[in-house]
Amino acid sequence: MRMRTAVGIVGAGPAGLMLSHLLHRRGIESVVVESRSRESIEATIRAGVLEQGTVDLMVETGIGERLRREGFVHHGTELRFGGRGHRINFYELTGGRVVTVYAQHEVLKDLIQARLNDGGRILFEHRATAIEDATGERPAIRLTGPDGRPETLECDFVAGCDGFHGIGRATIPEAARREYLRVYPFGWFGILAKAPPSSDELIYARHERGFALISTRSPEVQRMYFQCDPSDSVENWSDDRIWEELQARTEGQGFRLREGAIFQKGIVPMRSFVCETMRHGRLFLAGDAAHIVPPTGAKGLNLAVNDVFLLARAIGSHYATGSPELLDGYPAAALRRIWRAQHFSWWMTSMLHRFADASEFDDRRQLAELELITTSLPAATVLAQNYVGMPLG
Ligand code: FAD
Ligand code: DHB
Repeated sequence: MRMRTAVGIVGAGPAGLMLSHLLHRRGIESVVVESRSRESIEATIRAGVLEQGTVDLMVETGIGERLRREGFVHHGTELRFGGRGHRINFYELTGGRVVTVYAQHEVLKDLIQARLNDGGRILFEHRATAIEDATGERPAIRLTGPDGRPETLECDFVAGCDGFHGIGRATIPEAARREYLRVYPFGWFGILAKAPPSSDELIYARHERGFALISTRSPEVQRMYFQCDPSDSVENWSDDRIWEELQARTEGQGFRLREGAIFQKGIVPMRSFVCETMRHGRLFLAGDAAHIVPPTGAKGLNLAVNDVFLLARAIGSHYATGSPELLDGYPAAALRRIWRAQHFSWWMTSMLHRFADASEFDDRRQLAELELITTSLPAATVLAQNYVGMPLG
């Protein structure tokens, strides 16, 4: 079977679905190809913090209604170290910018619903097996549908929005791309628990036993993480052991986490990764297909949204004016923000995690850095501005 569209998009994550949504608003047709089922995508727990720019884009493009109703606006965050909490006031330090806690799979539900309401096509349970003729005039995506039959999607452009393990990046010949990678010697153990919130704002805690993060999902469900061995297994962690570890890492000033039944556990590895370039002929990469950040700065989803904001504008400009200028400039434009977020995510990770080979000097230097961030206005402003993010584009 052969199909044809203007933009063939591989992957129905935040990057692929948002790109399809933004293209539709410019009157450009697309088809999204996704190997997983709708149910599986809408149930996968991942990121939770939306930058101001991501929220603004969702609201401005008509998909922000539930986000406005159910998202939690946070005006600041707490850095906890040495047994004390220190507040960073985003709102004051950035001239009124804030973040919103709203889970990634809720964003995906809103995007999928909007695409379907607008007559958009998402081919769930269709795996892209190859991208052909990326450097020609008529690239094509080869697919396998749920019945195992091969299909072909011909397009003007292909967007590789298929995450770190997808085929988009692998389609760019090795000689034409350069990859930068740092693997961290720890991972994050993440849980969801049925419990009331322990804090009005997120807590990023640095402790001798390692990093911990207290986040939220709703008044009834809390999201928490703690630094762990990336090769550890969730089976080694009983609920009691998890609570003991989280309590120890957030202790001080009489603070106690409110505990509850843990109903989801998982371990994610931590790496920093960038692929340059993000373009090969008519194939463009966006989101995790081109870059990964460690989650400490909450940038992964937001970077994916910035990429496709730029890409939709560039493709729109191509169809509207015939000019290749924005398409040619896409990798450089996207990479500026990507490297800013790479630095910020690495910095937050380095400042808050325990490294097994850290010397006593390293420990004291780390604490001195946290003291600086929480007592100097210019230093706190750097953190706040990076955390809430610059306007898109
Ligand atoms: P993805 O969301 O990965 O979407 C890619 C899609 O492409 C997937 O649905 C996949 O099924 C599909 N696909 C892949 N290959 C094919 C193919 N051949 N054919 C068809 N479809 C294909 N970030 C944070 O900021 N904070 C967090 O706490 C956090 N937690 C995370 C936890 C996990 C387990 C993971 C994996 C990531 C986490 N992230 C987090 C990062 C954040 O979720 C990502 O940056 C974000 O999902 C990137 O969106 P994306 O659309 O680029 O890629
Ligand atoms: C969440 C995830 C993050 O990576 C982060 O830095 C803050 C919050 C979350 O899942 O809520």
